[in-house]
Amino acid sequence: MAPRLRQLTRHSLSPLASPGSAALPGGSASRPGGPAASVRGLTRRFGDRVVLDRLDLDIAPGEFVALIGRSGSGKSTLLRALAGLDKGVDGTLIVPGQVAVAFQEPRLVPWKKVIENITLGLRVRDPQPVARAALEEVGLAERVTAWPLTLSGGEAQRASLARALVRQPSLLLLDEPFSALDALTRISMHRLVLRLWEHHEPAVLLVTHDVDEALALADRVLVLGDGRITHSAAIDLPRPRDRDHPAQIALRLRLLTELGVPAAATS
Ligand SMILES: Nc1ncnc2c1ncn2[C@@H]1O[C@H](COP(=O)(O)OP(=O)(O)OP(=O)(O)O)[C@@H](O)[C@H]1O
Ligand SMILES: [Mg+2]
Repeated sequence: MAPRLRQLTRHSLSPLASPGSAALPGGSASRPGGPAASVRGLTRRFGDRVVLDRLDLDIAPGEFVALIGRSGSGKSTLLRALAGLDKGVDGTLIVPGQVAVAFQEPRLVPWKKVIENITLGLRVRDPQPVARAALEEVGLAERVTAWPLTLSGGEAQRASLARALVRQPSLLLLDEPFSALDALTRISMHRLVLRLWEHHEPAVLLVTHDVDEALALADRVLVLGDGRITHSAAIDLPRPRDRDHPAQIALRLRLLTELGVPAAATS
């Protein structure tokens, strides 16, 4: 059967930075009207196995959404579909703006210096100042000419964020970008991501295994199970968030229950 996918986006991951602009402007100049992503009836089969099963999802412009779910539940599959990296999906998938992705492993090209990794494929008139501005913004001004293999894990992940940022995405997809980092580095990455999000205002879909990470960052936490969004929790608490706030404790317990983790197992 021919795929019923209707994709109204250029999922090319090509850059949209304004020609000649050195600084990365904040705000959402490249953001189109309507939802940042709209998904209806998204289905992905691998052989007989249905991993995504008529999934519906809307992400509002500038909204920070976290997606949690058990290993193998299809989180990365959904993210790849939203990024336009999977042509084997059925359903309706509308992502009208620019998309950028950062993965768990930073995926820097080892034989290109950090700045060349950022400018790679960046089609603007003068890519170097744009890339430098992004590297400065993630605190890597001193490592512009470093080789990727000399970066720490946190630095490499910041470079990966800079590479996503220069694309000025209206939808930023993050697939467990902090899961390989130590606890302290994770906390500083959380602060960085929130700062970048507040400045550039992309919609964000963050895949994470960590309920506390989701609660610290997101406006809304989604649980993926049986191929669909089985639970959606709005987090209406000011940032920076207090993990011991009673409302946050209640949300954590609820989400863990949704994930099938008994509360006693977390204490
Ligand atoms: N190309 C593929 N071919 C066959 N099966 C696949 C393929 N890609 C993913 N799958 C299967 O689809 C299911 C969902 O995979 P996916 O990577 O989306 O899970 P996930 O929720 O991201 O898991 P994790 O939390 O471990 O990263 C898994 O069972 C996986 O084995
Ligand atoms: Mg995954």
